[in-house]
Amino acid sequence: MFRDLTVPPWDDAEAWGCWQGHWALRAGTIYLNHGSFGPPPRAVQAARQAWQWQLDAQPMDLFVRRFAAQWFAARSTLAAFVGAAAEDVILVENATAAMNLVAAHVVLRPGDEVVLTDHEYGAVRRIWERACRRAGTAGPVTAVLPPQFESADQVVDTLFAAVHEHTKLVVVSHITSPTAVILPVLAICREARRRGIAVCVDGPHAIAQLPLEIAALDCDFYAASCHKWLSAPFGSGFLAVHPRQQAGFEPVLLSWGRLPPESPRRWSDEHIWTGTRDPSGFFAVPDAIGFLRRVGLSAFRHRTHALAQYARERIGALTGLTPPVPDSPTWYGSMVSLPLPPLDAPALQRALSERDGIEVPVMEWAGQFYLRVSCHLYNTPGHIQALCRALRRHL
Ligand SMILES: Cc1ncc(COP(=O)(O)O)c(C=O)c1O
Repeated sequence: MFRDLTVPPWDDAEAWGCWQGHWALRAGTIYLNHGSFGPPPRAVQAARQAWQWQLDAQPMDLFVRRFAAQWFAARSTLAAFVGAAAEDVILVENATAAMNLVAAHVVLRPGDEVVLTDHEYGAVRRIWERACRRAGTAGPVTAVLPPQFESADQVVDTLFAAVHEHTKLVVVSHITSPTAVILPVLAICREARRRGIAVCVDGPHAIAQLPLEIAALDCDFYAASCHKWLSAPFGSGFLAVHPRQQAGFEPVLLSWGRLPPESPRRWSDEHIWTGTRDPSGFFAVPDAIGFLRRVGLSAFRHRTHALAQYARERIGALTGLTPPVPDSPTWYGSMVSLPLPPLDAPALQRALSERDGIEVPVMEWAGQFYLRVSCHLYNTPGHIQALCRALRRHL
């Protein structure tokens, strides 16, 4: 029987309570969905607004005289943070834009196959369905991962059972969207290299949630958004492209690349100026990195994992259902997806939002219902307890 809880013994409310004030979240909302849309802290909001103010005050100065240097500076800071060479990285609006660029670049011929796991994000699947349809190939092929995750080898073996001689590309999430599982991408990339197959890692949930060394993964492409766990402004993301894929890597939105009198020289130059747009989100990415560095990245990861683990424990006690991964930071980080009994998912999500002020996604995936709880710095054990109380009423 579920009990209401007092503050768990590991919660140092004094040390962590102060972070709530760094966000401007609406009073009365318990926000447990940083994994979908991660609001930026006030410091990052202010940095973005300062850039917008400068842009509106003197567009010529910002676009013509300062834009490129600022783009390069933001790229260098971001590339260092994710362990990639700056020259291998371009700034894009979001992971979706990054994945579309990859789909436009990879040449599929009839008979070629693209392999995706069954845990991939729905919109990513749609991108590859269209790419396969346009190329006249069947697919994409779906590798169905095990219902209970046990080891990296088990995941690699199951994934590569769906890979054949005609497989051109494997698309795999670093942290999956519906199930919040950390997949063993290093082992997957190694096996793909051994077989000469390209890999695109879909990584928006990994940025800040996990320590990241993209160069060490040796993947062909790494696509991500910075407006999830990094809490950079909405509309900021990146794509890392390995040097072996850079020749002929073209923009989807062709523009100047570099504003005249400059002209594009390197592959990445083509992706700097893609038409007139508000660049303030990109320029404030270093502020988001600076913010989390000041918190301390390992402290951030430890704290938010502890909250996610608390949610797993309490909601598991309520439902009696076992999540698909072992209780370990190897398998999940700051976000946890918890199975629910059969229910009306949209109705529960709506009730939690409208009656309890709790924003948390409820979804059906592979015939099972899940509640995905995201924990960031502004969340507290009290938020998880409020969620449990609401669930007890609704279930
Ligand atoms: C695994 C995964 N890939 C890609 C995306 C797309 O991200 P965005 O909407 O920022 O482009 C999401 C969004 O939630 C996601 O969870």
